[in-house]
Amino acid sequence: MDFSPFVFGTTVSRIAFTNREQELERLYSNLTQGINTMLISPRRWGKSSLVEKLIAEVNRKEEQIKTVSIDLFSAGSEEEFLELFAREVIKASSTKWEEWLSVGKEFFHQLVPKLTVGLNPNVDFSVGFDWKEIKKYRDEILDLPERIAQKKGLKYLICLDEFQNLASFDHFEQFEKSMRATWQRQKLVTYCLYGSRRHMMADIFNNPSKPFYRFGDVLLLEKIKREKWITFIQESFENGKKQISTDLAELIPTLMDDHSWYVQQLAHYTWQKSAKKVKLEHIHEALFELIATNSPFYQREIESISRGQLNLLKAIANKEVKLTSVDMLDKYKLGTSANVVKNRNVLMNLDIIHDHKGAIEFLDPAFERWFKNYFLGLPLV
Ligand SMILES: Nc1ncnc2c1ncn2[C@@H]1O[C@H](COP(=O)(O)OP(=O)(O)OP(=O)(O)O)[C@@H](O)[C@H]1O
Ligand SMILES: [Mg+2]
Repeated sequence: MDFSPFVFGTTVSRIAFTNREQELERLYSNLTQGINTMLISPRRWGKSSLVEKLIAEVNRKEEQIKTVSIDLFSAGSEEEFLELFAREVIKASSTKWEEWLSVGKEFFHQLVPKLTVGLNPNVDFSVGFDWKEIKKYRDEILDLPERIAQKKGLKYLICLDEFQNLASFDHFEQFEKSMRATWQRQKLVTYCLYGSRRHMMADIFNNPSKPFYRFGDVLLLEKIKREKWITFIQESFENGKKQISTDLAELIPTLMDDHSWYVQQLAHYTWQKSAKKVKLEHIHEALFELIATNSPFYQREIESISRGQLNLLKAIANKEVKLTSVDMLDKYKLGTSANVVKNRNVLMNLDIIHDHKGAIEFLDPAFERWFKNYFLGLPLV
């Protein structure tokens, strides 16, 4: 079978990447000129892919800037994060692992790092600290990139993915203050902080009473435009010697509401189901497959919410307005109007729904289709 030109489930930055020219330009100019930048969007719209692309570009064009990229999903505590941070900063300082060891020795005064190098230093290099000391002297780690940069005549760009994960650590407030205080003074280090839990991210960066308020430029990533998707899909099919009409190429992002992950997933299944020329039924079959593949996740999502929240989702799926009116409370068994407000906030915090220009909507277009089919009996297409 021919290889599908569509990719989902991992970041795309070299292949299957489209659009985002403006966002790349803004990120590039911010981050190479020392402006810290926060990037926020709902899940799977393309933050990680965009930053990956940016890092590749900085690596290619800016020899003096050393890039560090850390995904905070893998850090379970402040101590782990600090070790990860130290390791990646040290690794980025030089291409030679022998130098990592000397950097590790030279740049610490209070802390004594344990450095280990395995047979393949690139994958097997670790930095450990005494966990009793690490919190006491955390500033020494947080300030490490600046000190290395000064001494070696470099600059650092540090990208931290799923940044909001730090907020779940014990005593985060204290840590948050230290990070902000240290990082703000750094002249040679720029940060790109991004994440998909929008409410948590907004609370960290847009709340005037929090330390990270006005830490830098906050960029709310938007969806890729419909026209861009159409061109991308048509060109990708053509490059693979298949044909899709403009109308059908438009149907794919239309069905998936321009959601990056799902557009790629639906295009991929359509590719698989079609021979030389895409027909409408291929897209419909692809959609059924997409929903079937994802439905275990949706099922789990539903199991994790309360009956009142589920009922509220039904009302929202039915496009009801005035959700706190007596009629609605009664029709959907929503409890009191205070319950509705509370449940709406819970669903918003979970990023299941959002407020779009004053209307409450589902955030995940395929989940919405599945939900309407499963609970309201509406057809999938
Ligand atoms: N610029 C792009 N062009 C084409 N497809 C894209 C683009 N960006 C993202 N995608 C698609 O969306 C999927 C999710 O992208 P990515 O992992 O970068 O998003 P994210 O916002 O970091 O997601 P998460 O919130 O899960 O971390 C990719 O696997 C790919 O299919
Ligand atoms: Mg991501």
